[in-house]
Amino acid sequence: MTDVAERLEELRDRGLHRRLRLVSGPQGPRVTLDGRPVLLLCSNNYLGLADHPRVRGAAAEAAMRWGAGAGASRLISGNMQPHRRLEERLAEFKGHEAALLFGSGYLANTGAIAALAGDGEVVFSDELNHASIIDGCRLSRAETFVYRHGDIEHLAWGLREAGERASLIVTDGVFSMDGDIAPLPELAELAKRHECRLMVDEAHATGALGPGGRGSVAAAGLTGEVDLVMGTLGKALGSYGAYVCASRELTEYLVNAARPFVFSTAPPPPVVAASLTALDLLESHPHLVEGLAANAATLRAALAAEGLTVGGSATQIVPVAVGDASQTMELCERVLERGVFAQGIRPPTVPEGSSRLRFTVMATHRAGELERAAKLVGAAAREMGIAAAPVPIAA
Ligand SMILES: Cc1ncc(COP(=O)(O)O)c(C=O)c1O
Repeated sequence: MTDVAERLEELRDRGLHRRLRLVSGPQGPRVTLDGRPVLLLCSNNYLGLADHPRVRGAAAEAAMRWGAGAGASRLISGNMQPHRRLEERLAEFKGHEAALLFGSGYLANTGAIAALAGDGEVVFSDELNHASIIDGCRLSRAETFVYRHGDIEHLAWGLREAGERASLIVTDGVFSMDGDIAPLPELAELAKRHECRLMVDEAHATGALGPGGRGSVAAAGLTGEVDLVMGTLGKALGSYGAYVCASRELTEYLVNAARPFVFSTAPPPPVVAASLTALDLLESHPHLVEGLAANAATLRAALAAEGLTVGGSATQIVPVAVGDASQTMELCERVLERGVFAQGIRPPTVPEGSSRLRFTVMATHRAGELERAAKLVGAAAREMGIAAAPVPIAA
């Protein structure tokens, strides 16, 4: 048995050791981190709803009316009204017959995938899918065909090889570490042709893409055509938890077969009520979604102008490529010293050799502070020799 101290030492040697940093106060565009004020550029509180007064108020009121906890799994101690209401609202918002809440996105993905695919079947998963999808594939006991990132030809080949064993294609809608968008029309076409289900994870797409922030599936004009649309409540919607939208029959099946739904306590009522109010705010304030897109475009352009490589990002997730894990963390520290907090992302979150500083933008940031942040990231990267010279902006 390897000693834990040895394992920790090895992580430190490889530049892969992680530690927690203390934030004082709620998640907002600016926070106090380990006692110092910083511009926060790594929170998924994309629309500023986590710290919105109405969302906080809804959680507080629900705590008084419904209590702090749900008591048990909903199959055991009953389905509470806020949960049922939120499911109805989410199904309507996403254009599906039904929705089912889960404790988190991790639980939704592992639960739904493992319930839908099984022994003797094949699941098709993009190589850059989130860890919760990867773990769902592992738990399913199905064979997993990992297709090259966004590579429709590779996927089509895998589907032909699998024949009738093809069970489920699963993809992030917006890739969580790269900020690019999955080729959903092509994926939907392939799923249809091979009579295989399609599941899209909209963790980073809900509130960010599509009409009124309805997500990447809606943005691709595929509302109602994707079998399962998973989304989270802890990112743009500001609280915690997740949901899967699908047909009535499929959600009824998940109630019976998704183990994290059956065997885990339901989300707490204050969290559910916060999500309901966040959804109201999203529907009544579409300019938040537009503001997020505008801020994301500002940051992408400003980082690129500094000679930094932001890859295929087309969203509020903007990675700056570094490569080496230790160098990434050094850049993270140097940028932090200058008052900007963006998290360094290393293996196993991303493939070996592709470590990066990952920026996430909020609608509540100001354009000027994003531009200033990009400049100081550029300066820090140049000090380390990992950025080209700034690109002059055309007059
Ligand atoms: C694409 C994607 N799916 C699922 C999850 C998991 O969601 P949660 O944080 O609610 O467990 C995340 C979270 O980071 C994610 O980025």
